[in-house]
Amino acid sequence: MWKLKQLLKRIAHLWRDRRACARTRKIKRNWATRLQDLPLAADGRRLLHIGCGEIEATGYVNLDARPGSHVHIVTQDLFRLEMIPEHAFDLVYMSHVLEHVSHLKVTETLRELRRILKVGGVLRVSVPDFDHILTLYQATDHDIRAIEQPLMGAQDYAFNYHYMIFNDGHLRKLMLNSGFREVRAWNPQDCDHHDFEDWASKTISWEGREYEISLNIEAVK
Ligand SMILES: C[S@@+](CC[C@H](N)C(=O)[O-])C[C@H]1O[C@@H](n2cnc3c(N)ncnc32)[C@H](O)[C@@H]1O
Repeated sequence: MWKLKQLLKRIAHLWRDRRACARTRKIKRNWATRLQDLPLAADGRRLLHIGCGEIEATGYVNLDARPGSHVHIVTQDLFRLEMIPEHAFDLVYMSHVLEHVSHLKVTETLRELRRILKVGGVLRVSVPDFDHILTLYQATDHDIRAIEQPLMGAQDYAFNYHYMIFNDGHLRKLMLNSGFREVRAWNPQDCDHHDFEDWASKTISWEGREYEISLNIEAVK
């Protein structure tokens, strides 16, 4: 009985994945015609939310490695977004996703994100800040358990592992080396198109204290 239940669950997952992949292929084939079906921000801007997870933010096209009814594009290859033409978006937003990309592929990924942005468009990124992780490590008297999740990911599903670390200087350098300009900090409480809560503003709780974790940097194409 248990095995049958597992098998049915597996078939349901495969069916959901097949439908998501078919939907993504359709977007690739008919980008121009599909654009009219894809969400558009109230100010007419095209917004892409990469690694949206459960979040369904107003006006955003949602992309994630995991399918969901609100996910328009399902892919894990962020360095090869072939289904999206160049100059497609005004804003590409990704919170706590870039650290899920291999350090060997980060520059290639940033260049790919630049390709799909319009000239003048913005790449807005939030990642765990290695310097904040160090502060947390020191404040907890070098307790490894406190930094396991922010450093290596919660590891509770296939796409929740970290392959890259960042600090402010390194992320800025990577963005500049990938062709971006005007690299600057952004604030989730005070920026456009951010009326939802996500990891960009969350803190890590450890033994009754809250610790900042995110590095929030954006750059212009
Ligand atoms: C830690 S969650 C962050 C969710 C949300 N952005 C937030 O800040 O609360 C990471 C999300 O990125 C997705 N993800 C991880 N690796 C990915 C990849 N290579 N391509 C696309 N999505 C990925 C995961 O499925 C998950 O939804």
